[in-house]
Amino acid sequence: MKNIVLVGFMGVGKSTIGSSLANLMNYKWVDTDKVIEKKLGEKIKNIFKNQGEDFFRNEEIQLVKTLEFRNNLVISTGGGLYMAEANREIFLKKDFVVFLNLPLEDVLERIGRNNNRPLALKDNLEEIKNRYNGRLPVYRKCSLEINVKNKAPFEIVREVRAAYYKWLKKGGAND
Ligand code: S3P
Repeated sequence: MKNIVLVGFMGVGKSTIGSSLANLMNYKWVDTDKVIEKKLGEKIKNIFKNQGEDFFRNEEIQLVKTLEFRNNLVISTGGGLYMAEANREIFLKKDFVVFLNLPLEDVLERIGRNNNRPLALKDNLEEIKNRYNGRLPVYRKCSLEINVKNKAPFEIVREVRAAYYKWLKKGGAND
């Protein structure tokens, strides 16, 4: 069956939801940040620091290419991965792409609690806002948008699963 791809800004819960959804559906879970960290033996924060963002973005593109012909996966993406057109093209051609949307104020609260995100550390408030607003229309090129504010992970997971089956039943196309 076609993959389910979770996209959205830092802190919206792509990893939490992805792992729990994969469990529920008996699909394999792929977390792109974790795969890249494992491959390079380095934390994302250090990859950004030592090799730079462009290097990291290229790693993301190489990884997505390896997922193109795979099935039965739940893929949690890093917040910037979907900004690359090459990645969007691969996912939108076949997979069910879910945008987890959370208002900026909630995002700020969540990412404030974690200092492992290089861009969140680097950006000031204005820059984060701009990044958020600039990315919004790109995330919206998806199969499904879900507002995750005030929803428990189990509710989100159920909502995604129901929408996925409905989408498959209707032919599973993104247009
Ligand atoms: C990034 C988000 C991070 C990680 C990297 C860059 C971004 O993933 O890939 O720090 O550009 O938004 P999360 O969305 O899981 O925090």
